[in-house]
Amino acid sequence: MKVTASAPGKAILFGEHAVVYGKPAIAMAVNRRAIVTIQEGTNDQINVQIPELDVYGAIDLTDHQIKPLKTSPSQTKFSDTSSTSDNPASPSSIYDMGILKFIRNAIFNDQFQPDHGLDVQVELEIPIGAGLGSSAAITVATLAASASYHQEDLTLEKLAKMAHHVELDVQGAASPLDTTISTHGGFIYFTRKDGAVKINPALEMPLVVGYTSQPGNTGQLVAGVRKLHDDHPEIINPILDTIEKIANQARQAITNGDQQKVAELMNINQGLLDALGVNTNQLSNLVYQARSAGAIGSKLTGAGGGGSIIAYCPGKTQEVLERLKHVENAFQVNISPQGVTWE
Ligand code: MEV
Repeated sequence: MKVTASAPGKAILFGEHAVVYGKPAIAMAVNRRAIVTIQEGTNDQINVQIPELDVYGAIDLTDHQIKPLKTSPSQTKFSDTSSTSDNPASPSSIYDMGILKFIRNAIFNDQFQPDHGLDVQVELEIPIGAGLGSSAAITVATLAASASYHQEDLTLEKLAKMAHHVELDVQGAASPLDTTISTHGGFIYFTRKDGAVKINPALEMPLVVGYTSQPGNTGQLVAGVRKLHDDHPEIINPILDTIEKIANQARQAITNGDQQKVAELMNINQGLLDALGVNTNQLSNLVYQARSAGAIGSKLTGAGGGGSIIAYCPGKTQEVLERLKHVENAFQVNISPQGVTWE
C-alpha cells in the first residue's frame, strides 16, 4: 500500500508570540506544501528521506531512536547550526536532522503505530526554520498519511490536536496556531481559547516572503520572550495588549478592505516584535529593503530570530520580489484555501 498526504505552510500577518499569551493572531495558509508518502518498508525500520534537505534517517521500530543515514551539509539548501538532534551527524546538519523528530513523533503517536518497517518520503516546498510553518506542515501531513496507511478515521479537529502535541513534545512551548492553520487552510483569526475563525478578506493580499539563510528556533525564541515577560511584566504585558489591539483592528481592516490600515498595523507590529527581542539585523534589513522597493507594510513573520519577513506590496510585487532576491531569498506567496489533504 502507498498513501500520500500534503499540508500547507503558513504566514502569520499579525500577533505571533502574543498568541502564546492568549492574544489573537491572524495567519494564512500559503501555497507551498509538505507532501508525505508512506509505503511498506524495504526493511524493519522507518526509513525517512527528505531529498530537498539532503536528510536521510532511519528510526528504530522498538526504541524509536533516530539514526542519521547520510547528510551532506554543503549541498543542503536550508542548513544551520542551531537546534537539536538525537544523534547529530555534523554541526551544520543538526538543524535539518531535527526535522526527523517531528516525523518520528507523528509516526509513533499515541493513537496508532506501525508494527513493521515503512518507507517515508517527504517532498518539501517550504524552507525550514523560516517561520513558514514547515515543521507543522510536515507533522500534519505525516500524521494524515500515517492515519490513511493504518486506515484510521481522523477528524480535522483530532488531527490538529495530535499535531500540536507532536510539536509540544519536540520543541517544548508552542501554540496550536501553526498546526491549526496547516490542517484547516485559508485565512484565519486565531485565539487559544476559541481556536480558528475563518476570515473573508475584502482586499487582495499580494505578499512577498523574504527569508534569511539563518533559521530561527521557535522553542528557544518563545522561551526568550517568556523570560523577558517574567523579568519585566509591567513593560511586556502592555506590549502584548497592544499587539492584541493591532490584531483586532487588522481583522476589521482586512474584512473592510482598508489596505493602508493593514499596512500601517503591520509596520507597528514589527516595531513591537523588535521590542520583544525576536528581530535580527538581517530581518530588519529585509523589512526596510522591502519598504524602499514599494511595500506599504512589512514585518518579520513567525518566531523571528532569523527566518522570514512578509511584505505587503499592492501594485509592487515584482519590484519587491526582485529587491529581496537581490538581498537574500524571496518568493511570492498566495493564500491556500486548501488545508491538509490525503488519499
Ligand atoms: C511561530 O510560528 C509562532 C509563535 O507565535 C509560536 C506559536 O504560536 O507557537 C512564535
